Amino acid sequence: MSNSRAIVAKILCSLLSDRGSLNTLLSNHKDHPEFGLIQESSYGCCRWYFALEGLLEQLLNKPLKKQDLDIKCLMICALYQLRELEVAEYAVINESVSAVKIFKKPWAKGLVNAVLRGYQRKKDELELALTTSQPNRDLAFPSWLESEINGQWPEQALTVFQNSNQRPPMTLRVNLAKNTREQYLEALSQNGIGANAGSLADSALYLDKPAPVTDLPGFAEGKVSVQDEASQLVPKLLQLEPGQRVLDACAAPGGKSCHILESEHSLTSLTSIDMTQSKLDRIRENFERLDLESSLVAADASEIEAWWDGKQFDRILLDAPCSATGVIRRHPDIKLLRRPEQIKALEEIQSSLLEKLWMCLKPGGLLLYTTCSLLRQENEDTIKRFLDSTDSAKYEAIAADWGVECAFGRQLLPGTNSGPDGFFYAVLRKELA
Ligand SMILES: C[S@@+](CC[C@H](N)C(=O)[O-])C[C@H]1O[C@@H](n2cnc3c(N)ncnc32)[C@H](O)[C@@H]1O
Repeated sequence: MSNSRAIVAKILCSLLSDRGSLNTLLSNHKDHPEFGLIQESSYGCCRWYFALEGLLEQLLNKPLKKQDLDIKCLMICALYQLRELEVAEYAVINESVSAVKIFKKPWAKGLVNAVLRGYQRKKDELELALTTSQPNRDLAFPSWLESEINGQWPEQALTVFQNSNQRPPMTLRVNLAKNTREQYLEALSQNGIGANAGSLADSALYLDKPAPVTDLPGFAEGKVSVQDEASQLVPKLLQLEPGQRVLDACAAPGGKSCHILESEHSLTSLTSIDMTQSKLDRIRENFERLDLESSLVAADASEIEAWWDGKQFDRILLDAPCSATGVIRRHPDIKLLRRPEQIKALEEIQSSLLEKLWMCLKPGGLLLYTTCSLLRQENEDTIKRFLDSTDSAKYEAIAADWGVECAFGRQLLPGTNSGPDGFFYAVLRKELA
């Protein structure tokens, strides 16, 4: 299929029908001559979907039938391009109208044409109605998530919505075992790439604008990796020391495992677990580039009898599976994919992982629990429940000048385009017997 608007509509349809993620769906179109436009439009449609849908509702006399989701998505894509991109409007309208053939729905030709011309004619009026009819519809969050964030972060909610709708920065982690941050900044500048140091992690750099990794000096030799600044706080919080045995329980694609090894070269061992061999392959690729090693295990980390040899660890990182509501700016498809009922299921998985992995921790050892979620159910509530039911677990507050201190743990909220993702951290110490 060559019509780029039809491709975006199909991607959007799949996401709304719970089939795949933006990354996997886009990867099928890498060779398309208009891949740039397809990628930009797919990200944009996800980011602004709930606002674009609000505009479309105003332009339709009656809602479309369920089976015409493809036509709806085609119009959402066209509205995104008319609203946000500097592309020729006649091309957007003509191509979208002709795309109805691909969906074998010639009856929709007139409708698509009328809706898009209607938007061109009444744009200002429609945009105004969008902001007045339903508060925050223009911020384009699903209503359940908007209510959660409003309820849980009343003072910060508007900034959370606004920052989550920004294009994310490209953030680098300088491999401090191979070069200093200043040396790497200099190397970037010699290559004409502008960047600034992050203020939270001593390895973090923000590029002025995204660049292909192949343009980054020393990337192939492991001098630098791509990783958000929030994740780069992990090794310090783990309080690593030579000789320790460390477990990274949910490790793929391996960003934090790599950073742990870059930060402390004299660990006795690092074990990195994830669910499948294909996930471990991602970790292996990163290890090879950075010339690092750990023991890789394909397993469900909560099924400890299947993978654990009974020797306890000094440090455990549990970077738990979560709603990923803190990283919407990087993965705007989360707005479409996440459902409120999934949160309860995630809480159960998080609690089960905590409970099982606790047995693998040495008395006196430390477990760092992290998520990229903004929701208290997955964060401080999960920690509180665990502390209530586990006598040997002691909560240690994180003394820091960043983020928001919660009852149990510390929360970073999504930053501006030179700030970190939304991320949660809690440190638990196992009391000596
Ligand atoms: C937030 S990501 C981890 C990111 C990783 N720590 C990094 O920094 O690159 C969560 C990972 O947990 C894995 N996962 C989910 N449930 C798991 C389980 N029960 N046991 C092991 N891994 C699990 C997922 O496959 C996913 O790769």
